[in-house]
Amino acid sequence: MKVIVTGGAGFIGSALIRYLIKNTDCTVLNLDKLTYAGNTDNLKEIDDSPRYQFVQCDICDEVKVREIFSTFEPDTIMHLAAESHVDRSIDAPLEFVRTNVLGTANLLHCALNYYQQLPEEKKAIFRFQHISTDEVYGSLGKEGFFKETTPYDPKSPYSASKASSDHMVRAWGHTFKLPVLLSNCSNNYGPYHFPEKLIPLIILNALDGKPLPIYGKGDNVRDWLFVEDHARALWQINRNGKPGETYNIGGNSERTNLEVVESCCKILDELVPKAESYSKQITFVADRPGHDQRYAIDASKLKRELNWEPLTRFEDGLRATVKWYLDNDWWWRPIREKNYAGERLGKGGK
Ligand code: NAD
Ligand code: TYD
Repeated sequence: MKVIVTGGAGFIGSALIRYLIKNTDCTVLNLDKLTYAGNTDNLKEIDDSPRYQFVQCDICDEVKVREIFSTFEPDTIMHLAAESHVDRSIDAPLEFVRTNVLGTANLLHCALNYYQQLPEEKKAIFRFQHISTDEVYGSLGKEGFFKETTPYDPKSPYSASKASSDHMVRAWGHTFKLPVLLSNCSNNYGPYHFPEKLIPLIILNALDGKPLPIYGKGDNVRDWLFVEDHARALWQINRNGKPGETYNIGGNSERTNLEVVESCCKILDELVPKAESYSKQITFVADRPGHDQRYAIDASKLKRELNWEPLTRFEDGLRATVKWYLDNDWWWRPIREKNYAGERLGKGGK
């Protein structure tokens, strides 16, 4: 199988490519623009494989995307390229519309053109797989779970742009009969996570002796999934999912933000003890504007139909993640020094 992964230099895309190279015999082309979030260091473990290649490309560039399709001749495309951080979508929403909405539409347009020229036997295996988020469903109260049938109710520029891209994908599936697959996943965590997101930011700020910022009261709830479990789910959906269908992916691990931060501190207290607990660095700061209260996924369809379930318990995955950051400062130090030092993003009010 020849697979195009868009956004393969990002957090989840790189985990997916590492998974594909290590666990399948696929040949993978990583199509990535290398924004601030894209980092070819994420692929160091596999980048000498003859089955891996990288092309720097913006998904909005129609000429270049068409050329990549016609020269590489993919059997499937797994689309992860996106602007992905809610706080940045508050500071600069139009980049989210450009990449997530227009970029996805351009990719669909180019993929359809390519798909229509394929012989029947190649058409039968081709899939356009779109990777999306649970945030499109909006925000839950104390009760309930997001199902595949939950109406869309996005509330941030990020989730609105992802919702819009999901609608585009379904429209191309319905109108043009492009064989599309969709999945909506909960919050991921794990190695190579860019340190603007909660868990890596907390680990690195803790080690630097900086404040550990908790928005609002810290009672917002997320459902955490280890990134390698997500990568495995994506490949399972790609090969065995039914075209036109959507699958929710979740970790069955709901935690408040305060619980997550306290767990990080506890693990650090154990692994790199100092006079005072890292939890003394916890600082409550002004809330994120429009902060979604709770996300929780019902992933029973994926279990029932494709026999997938998360394998990594949150406590084990978090410990492995903290250890990974302790052992891999070669990866994060240049990012913190040159790219993003951990300053507050998305306060709004500009
Ligand atoms: P990320 O920000 O770490 O990586 C995004 C990648 O996309 C980067 O390598 C970046 O260079 C690339 N990219 C951005 N704009 C591009 C463009 N115009 N053209 C080509 N490449 C471009 O994101 P991530 O956390 O790995 O998320 C990947 C996908 O999974 C996204 O679509 C996101 O919405 C979705 N998702 C993420 C989570 C999560 O918890 N991180 C959860 C559910 C779904
Ligand atoms: P984040 O990792 O940005 O993911 P998302 O907004 O997509 O869920 O944030 C996870 C949760 O942590 C979210 O409720 C916002 C909160 N948060 C903080 O409390 N402090 C921080 O510094 C960050 C980045 C996030």
